Amino acid sequence: MDVRTFWLAGRPATGDTELIVTNPLDGREVGRHSVPTDAQVEEAVAAAAQVAGQAAALPVHVRAEALAHVSRRLAERAEEIARLITAENGKPILWARGEVGRAVATFRFAAEETRRWSGEVQRLDTEPAAAGRLAYVSRVPYGPVLAITPFNFPLNLVAHKVAPAIAVGAPVIVKPAPATPLTSLLLGEILAETDLPAGMFSILPVENERAGALVEDPRLPVVSFTGSAPVGYAIADQVPRKHVTLELGGNAAAVVLADADLDWAATRVALYSNYQAGQSCIAVQRVIVEEPVYDAFVERLLPAVGALVTGDPADEKTQVGPLVSEAAAERVEQWIKEAVESGARVLAGGVREGATITPTVLTDVPADAKVAREEVFGPVMIVQRAASMDEAYAMVNDSAYGLQAGVFTRSLDAAFRANRELEVGGVIIGDVPSYRADQMPYGGVKDSGIGREGLGSAMRDLTYEKVMVITGLTL
Ligand code: SIN
Repeated sequence: MDVRTFWLAGRPATGDTELIVTNPLDGREVGRHSVPTDAQVEEAVAAAAQVAGQAAALPVHVRAEALAHVSRRLAERAEEIARLITAENGKPILWARGEVGRAVATFRFAAEETRRWSGEVQRLDTEPAAAGRLAYVSRVPYGPVLAITPFNFPLNLVAHKVAPAIAVGAPVIVKPAPATPLTSLLLGEILAETDLPAGMFSILPVENERAGALVEDPRLPVVSFTGSAPVGYAIADQVPRKHVTLELGGNAAAVVLADADLDWAATRVALYSNYQAGQSCIAVQRVIVEEPVYDAFVERLLPAVGALVTGDPADEKTQVGPLVSEAAAERVEQWIKEAVESGARVLAGGVREGATITPTVLTDVPADAKVAREEVFGPVMIVQRAASMDEAYAMVNDSAYGLQAGVFTRSLDAAFRANRELEVGGVIIGDVPSYRADQMPYGGVKDSGIGREGLGSAMRDLTYEKVMVITGLTL
């Protein structure tokens, strides 16, 4: 099998060793890639630091055209990329195609946003002492970005770090997840077709143990990490003086209030607890149903869960595929077992075969069970009763995490109350917490992280405000 090269300062490169990437469903080899040596990592970092000034000064049309090119080429190669995502991640082709479509939009939004990135003018002659003075407030990149990306969206969560970095003129070094590096290496092929200067991007598929040195490196003042809370906060602790952005986990709640459209709510909850086998930080994990409609909702939910097609992710009809590895599925199976041993009842699923877990619905789950308190990252939901809206919202907030929440209601008042009271970064009214549009601000509070992605938000996050005061003007 061909060995994929990695990307060192915009050029394909080969190291001394290689790693094999396998398909989560059957363990067969999907591909292999070369691994950068320490000297090559050093070369990539030095190149990023060296090009930073030139990158920040790149004309907007150059950045915008590079981003638009990537968007177009992703669209042209969409099917090939979707199949690669499915092969290395185990994500059903249905969802992999959706992910590629989103990445096309992510790069397009970045191209559009960079053209609007003009800074602001502020009058200062609001006080007599500042007569004739005007401020121009622009945003300047902190410098090269280290992007540490997760396995669950091997393309679009890489896009969410690379596209805004290019848009603001910051070099970026990507350290992809070891389980799914091939998609980001393919993205590198497309980035290499642009006119971006050498050093503007590197994609370094190094082992996790080698990421610490990159995190520490003072030439990379920004670390943007997506992954688990313990790893994210360990990074923040490791480099307290760096600008660190953390997109971490969640145990997202969907609230079903008594006035909800129950058929819609049941269908959406069933699908989005299990999409990507629950391996999304905003997959529905906790379903909190107002007492009067609890039975009617569960009656609709169980057939909707039962109707999901589980199987080979390459099959067009499959909705739920394997988890990223058998070890991940064993961990989820163990959490289900622990919940059942402490009193939970299984209403659906709960069976593991290899890396696949059948869509699982649990009820009567003790409040301290891992499936209630931690992030399952698997196709498991727990269904809970709430006596009132107040209690439902309090239950949503009874979590260490706070990424997004969904509230099924037709009441505007309930919607605004949710927006005011729920301790999360995003409230989705009339749908699951799993809804995300790539241009909107995305990120959490509490243990779900620090900072926001979404193109405009990420561009602000990678930059600081710089003010230039002009004196002696006739305004
Ligand atoms: C995530 O898992 O945090 C990303 C969810 C998404 O982009 O839809």
